[in-house]
Amino acid sequence: MTQASIRLLTPADAGAYRAMRLRALREHPLAFTSCFDEESQRPLAWSQARLQPDPLRPHDFFLGAFHNAGTLVGMVGLLGRYRRKELHNATVVGMYVATEAAGRGLGKALMQALLAHARTLPALEQLDLTVTQGEGGAQAFYERCGFAAFGVLTDAIRVDGHHYAKVHMALRLR
Ligand SMILES: CC(C)(COP(=O)(O)OP(=O)(O)OC[C@H]1O[C@@H](n2cnc3c(N)ncnc32)[C@H](O)[C@@H]1OP(=O)(O)O)[C@@H](O)C(=O)NCCC(=O)NCCS
Repeated sequence: MTQASIRLLTPADAGAYRAMRLRALREHPLAFTSCFDEESQRPLAWSQARLQPDPLRPHDFFLGAFHNAGTLVGMVGLLGRYRRKELHNATVVGMYVATEAAGRGLGKALMQALLAHARTLPALEQLDLTVTQGEGGAQAFYERCGFAAFGVLTDAIRVDGHHYAKVHMALRLR
C-alpha cells in the first residue's frame, strides 16, 4: 500500500500538474487522447484555470498524490457534463502514476479518493472513461477499481499513422 497523501489540486499546483501531465503524454503516447505536441503549447495559465474551482462546474476536480517531500507522484481528474439531461454523468480523465511509484496501490488509492469525492456531489450518479484497447493493462486496472466495459470504438485515435480502439467503461456511484 502507498504512503502518499492525496488531496485536491489547486492553481498553486499548476506547475507540478503541468510537468506531470506532459511527462505522462510523452511517456505514454498511446494511453491518452491528448497529445504532447498540442498540450505543450498551452501556457501555465491553462493549467491554472483547469485547477481553479468553478461554481458553474461543480463536478470538475483534479486530485494529486504527493510523497512525503511534497513531490507529485500521481494524479487523476473528473470532468462533468453540464447539460441538464446528462448532469448525472462525469468522465474520469488523466489518470497517471509516475513509473517509479507504480504498482504499489497508488493508482487505486487515487481512484478510491476520486470516487469518495464524487459521491459527495449529490447530482452525480455515474462515471465513465475510455481506455486504449490493449494498452499497458490499464483496462485491467480500471476493472479492479470497479469499472465495467460497455463498448468499443474502433479507430478512436490515430498515432503516427496507426489507429487504435478505445474501450468505453462505466461505474455507478450509487
Ligand atoms: C494504469 C496506472 C494508473 C495504474 O496505477 P498503479 O498505481 O500502478 O496501480 P495500482 O498499483 O494501484 O493497482 C491497482 C490494481 O490494478 C491492477 N493493475 C495495475 N496495473 C495493471 C496492469 N498493467 N495489468 C493488470 N493489472 C494491473 C493491480 O494488480 C491492482 O490490482 P488489485 O486491486 O487486485 O491489487 C499506471 O500504471 C499508469 O499511470 N500507467 C500509465 C498511464 C496510463 O495508462 N493511464 C491510464 C490512461 S486511460
